[in-house]
Amino acid sequence: MKIIEVNDYQQMSTTAAEYIIEKVVQNPSIKLGLATGSTPIGTYQRLIEDHRKNGTSYQKVTTFNLDEYIGLAGDNQNSYRYFMDHQLFNYIDINNAKTNIPSGMAADLQEECNHYEDLLTKHSGIDLQILGIGSNGHIGFNEPGTSFASKTHIVELASSTIQANARFFNRIEDVPTQAITMGISTILKSKEILLLVSGEEKGEALFRLVNGEIHESFPASVLKNHPCVTIIADKAAIAKQRVYC
Ligand code: GLP
Repeated sequence: MKIIEVNDYQQMSTTAAEYIIEKVVQNPSIKLGLATGSTPIGTYQRLIEDHRKNGTSYQKVTTFNLDEYIGLAGDNQNSYRYFMDHQLFNYIDINNAKTNIPSGMAADLQEECNHYEDLLTKHSGIDLQILGIGSNGHIGFNEPGTSFASKTHIVELASSTIQANARFFNRIEDVPTQAITMGISTILKSKEILLLVSGEEKGEALFRLVNGEIHESFPASVLKNHPCVTIIADKAAIAKQRVYC
């Protein structure tokens, strides 16, 4: 794993966006794995700015999102489909038909998981996967204890994740308790992974990722088994490392 240290959230976003733009320019048909949450919002804003200013095109790009809440339709403002449309897709020239997000409203949710996994296989996998990290080490919605061999599956969200994500909802009772997520083995099949980490509240997770053992109790630790992971982390998140190193 390579760690790029940046000053703050703004610089993390700019550095990540430059990294992604370079890959898109090199390979206009790139398959990008995308994440939601607060962490990548600034990165997506930089991609939009660059698209407007420099005309970087996403017409041939295919995207696969990591996860989606079960029970929220795409037009629900808390769904990840809505998030992606409003934080990125609506403001770049991407072909909507090439943006893939699992449906949390599918009649047969297990079938939807199988379909998503098959779709990824059919596209020969993701070239560059963008990841955030949960304070408990979750990646996508793979909570602690998830098998490293897992494929796209239905998850029960940890109460800490529900609490953390409640800030986006009116009431904590409105946060779905289940989601569909790419599995850990699905994520690991990506050719390259870019992990974004910002803020003191992620310091503990980053510390555990870098210094801890590889174990299913801390899902992000599996990234150490991947040959091509770059972490862009800001000083607030890295400060924890310095205390211990
Ligand atoms: C969410 C998402 C993850 C995300 C993580 C961190 O629950 N499912 O994909 O990386 O939690 O979110 P944030 O960036 O808001 O801290």
